[in-house]
Amino acid sequence: MALLLRSFLLGLICIALFSSRCFGADPTVSYDYKLTYITASPLGVPQQVIAVNGQFPGPVLNATTNYNVVVNVINELDEGLLITWPGIQMRRDSWQDGVRGTTCPIRPKKNFTYNFQVKDQIGSYFYYPSLNLQRASGGFGPVIINNRDVISIPFAQPDGDINLLIGDWYTQNHTALRTTLDSGNELGMPDGVLINGKGPFKYNSSVPDGIKYETLNVDPGKTYRFRVHNVGTSTSLNFRIQGHNLLLVETEGRYTSQQNYTSFDIHVGQSYSFLVTMDQNATSDYYVVASARYVNETVWQRVTGVAILHYSNSQGPAAGPLPEAPNDIYNQWSALNQAKTIRQNTSASGARPNPQGSFHYGQINITNTYILRSLPPVSINGKMRATLNGISFRNPDTPIRLADVHKVKGAYKLDFPSQPMNRPPVVDTSVLNATYKGFVEIILQNNDTRLQSFHMDGYSFFVVGMDWGIWSESNRNGYNNWDAISRSTVEVHPGAWTAVLASLDNAGVWNLRVENLDRWYLGQETYMKIVNPEENGETEFAPPDNVVFCGQLQNLEKDKKSNAGGSTMARRSNVLVSLAMALSAVFFYCILV
Ligand SMILES: *[C@@H]1O[C@H](CO)[C@@H](O)[C@H](O)[C@H]1NC(C)=O
Ligand SMILES: *[C@@H]1O[C@H](CO)[C@@H](O)[C@H](O)[C@H]1NC(C)=O
Ligand SMILES: *[C@@H]1O[C@H](CO)[C@@H](O)[C@H](O)[C@H]1NC(C)=O
Ligand SMILES: *[C@@H]1O[C@H](CO)[C@@H](O)[C@H](O)[C@H]1NC(C)=O
Ligand SMILES: *[C@@H]1O[C@H](CO)[C@@H](O)[C@H](O)[C@H]1NC(C)=O
Ligand SMILES: *[C@@H]1O[C@H](CO)[C@@H](O)[C@H](O)[C@H]1NC(C)=O
Ligand SMILES: *[C@@H]1O[C@H](CO)[C@@H](O)[C@H](O)[C@H]1NC(C)=O
Ligand SMILES: *[C@@H]1O[C@H](CO)[C@@H](O)[C@H](O)[C@H]1NC(C)=O
Ligand SMILES: *[C@@H]1O[C@H](CO)[C@@H](O)[C@H](O)[C@H]1NC(C)=O
Ligand SMILES: *[C@@H]1O[C@H](CO)[C@@H](O)[C@H](O)[C@H]1NC(C)=O
Ligand SMILES: *[C@@H]1O[C@H](CO)[C@@H](O)[C@H](O)[C@H]1NC(C)=O
Repeated sequence: MALLLRSFLLGLICIALFSSRCFGADPTVSYDYKLTYITASPLGVPQQVIAVNGQFPGPVLNATTNYNVVVNVINELDEGLLITWPGIQMRRDSWQDGVRGTTCPIRPKKNFTYNFQVKDQIGSYFYYPSLNLQRASGGFGPVIINNRDVISIPFAQPDGDINLLIGDWYTQNHTALRTTLDSGNELGMPDGVLINGKGPFKYNSSVPDGIKYETLNVDPGKTYRFRVHNVGTSTSLNFRIQGHNLLLVETEGRYTSQQNYTSFDIHVGQSYSFLVTMDQNATSDYYVVASARYVNETVWQRVTGVAILHYSNSQGPAAGPLPEAPNDIYNQWSALNQAKTIRQNTSASGARPNPQGSFHYGQINITNTYILRSLPPVSINGKMRATLNGISFRNPDTPIRLADVHKVKGAYKLDFPSQPMNRPPVVDTSVLNATYKGFVEIILQNNDTRLQSFHMDGYSFFVVGMDWGIWSESNRNGYNNWDAISRSTVEVHPGAWTAVLASLDNAGVWNLRVENLDRWYLGQETYMKIVNPEENGETEFAPPDNVVFCGQLQNLEKDKKSNAGGSTMARRSNVLVSLAMALSAVFFYCILV
């Protein structure tokens, strides 16, 4: 009887204390990711690639809206490491962002535990090592953020998920590629295209024998969600599946207006979800193709990425020519057409129950316009560098916000120009002074000779316009102010511009960069410093207890415990502390009873 009463009381207390807010809502998923070199031969040539837990590509990070994610990253490489999670917004927590301007590298043989919340997010992303071209050797893996059960997705639940990491590939490793760039040369043409870390199926005699290829096993009649990411170094890819439609449904956390495509362009750093129904007759297997886009085929002459779609009732191997690529490479006017069809489904619910279109971005007045122009690489002080507005970014020795918190002077300059300057290019640690709660327009003007993808950390932005030539204010008349897609990585064609709008409500310092690894390595990036001037509870989190020190704060690395926190910033773990206290209170009460 006493026992019964006790459990009853305990039940009551638990219901009272942990009604939806604390417990049910925010579970934690934990991972250990050990990064090592392994030998692999994706294109038939043995080379060192970066594996995560022995796998290349790395394992899936699987979470649900509002989950806390804990990833203990163990660095078994021979150089510094940071893992970044593009598209995950890390609200008020740029400490977790894993780029060199916010975080000191994890030293070899050390580990660092990332701890962040996927607040109000859904969708498909991928993680990767952000330093020094390491991504060109691997270290990447898919990220999935599922909807909460209470919010329905705008299509029938697919029968399965298929992750595809596609990307151009060099048989040289990232250190060799670095040497090429350091000596003032371009990387040149990649050696092929990989799909999930594997080389092509032998679709014709140009493919060497004995190459391992990817096989996707499917059942007839079923519909799968293909989450496709371009994890490559610098090449835009065209993705297609022989005989099957690609129904576009999501990109980087936004549900799109659903549309069928027979082939789809995916630029470096971008992620898309397609629904593919197995509605063919399986007289044979089918080709899954990722081919280089905007290359002159007579010059490219490299193997294309080819995987195999294998129905469980298939009657034989795939044969014959690959499905054709779009043949408009010499008609670039049409190249923007597909991008312009990518729009958000304004009535679908994303991470929250209210429709995606309920934020009326088109009616908000723009507070600042930044025009960021990229030019082809130039020599500055005898070194090849790439620039944005004439500035080639040099990473700070001491990360930007860590320098602020510890009052390190001169770690960076807050003077990044809001438009191209008519002055000689320089190498500098120059950061954009952006206004918290501003509503900014960013014009990405590509005066380089190659297509580039731009990415902003901490945010997603509305892609309101894209066109050839030089942007001018009159182009605003053509903006999509109604259902522009909101995403975090967008392409900018050479000789063209792309306009995006963003609401700067996430305090922190956030990287704005080109995703093409060569240009990024050469300095084509900056950061936006976005600080809430008021202490109203919306300020950033304090540095985490396990923050790594370097640069001018190197000596703090030795005795960390005494230096954790120590500012007016709030730390999320405070919530955990209160939760732990509440838990022990319950425990204590129960013992008493
Ligand atoms: C990368 O390749 C170079 C040259 O082939 C080789 O010397 C080096 O050991 C490799 N680096 C790694 C980390 O595998
Ligand atoms: C992700 O986790 C959910 C449970 O939270 C599970 O239902 C789902 O199958 C997992 N997906 C993958 C790809 O592991
Ligand atoms: C390193 O990993 C251990 C467990 O393997 C963990 O206890 C420790 O907190 C990690 N260190 C950091 C700095 O995250
Ligand atoms: C093999 O296929 C590629 C298309 O990827 C084509 O360019 C090439 O000419 C073909 N080679 C042979 C020998 O058929
Ligand atoms: C897309 O194509 C499939 C056939 O593959 C068709 O059943 C479906 O209705 C199409 N959906 C749209 C939105 O066009
Ligand atoms: C299967 O589909 C292919 C392509 O649509 C067609 O050429 C072939 O005749 C079909 N075979 C059967 C047995 O229906
Ligand atoms: C493609 O490259 C070949 C070889 O360099 C060149 O002759 C040809 O003119 C190029 N084609 C176009 C359309 O640029
Ligand atoms: C938009 O989302 C709704 C769910 O709210 C769905 O029923 C509809 O099919 C979607 N429309 C398109 C064009 O994707
Ligand atoms: C936007 O600016 C116009 C004047 O330029 C002003 O009339 C309007 O009230 C502003 N709208 C908002 C929402 O602030
Ligand atoms: C940055 O902008 C704020 C206003 O948003 C201004 O008060 C501050 O002086 C600026 N700092 C610098 C270094 O320009
Ligand atoms: C770059 O700008 C120059 C001068 O405005 C122009 O002549 C050239 O065509 C541009 N090139 C590209 C690729 O935009």
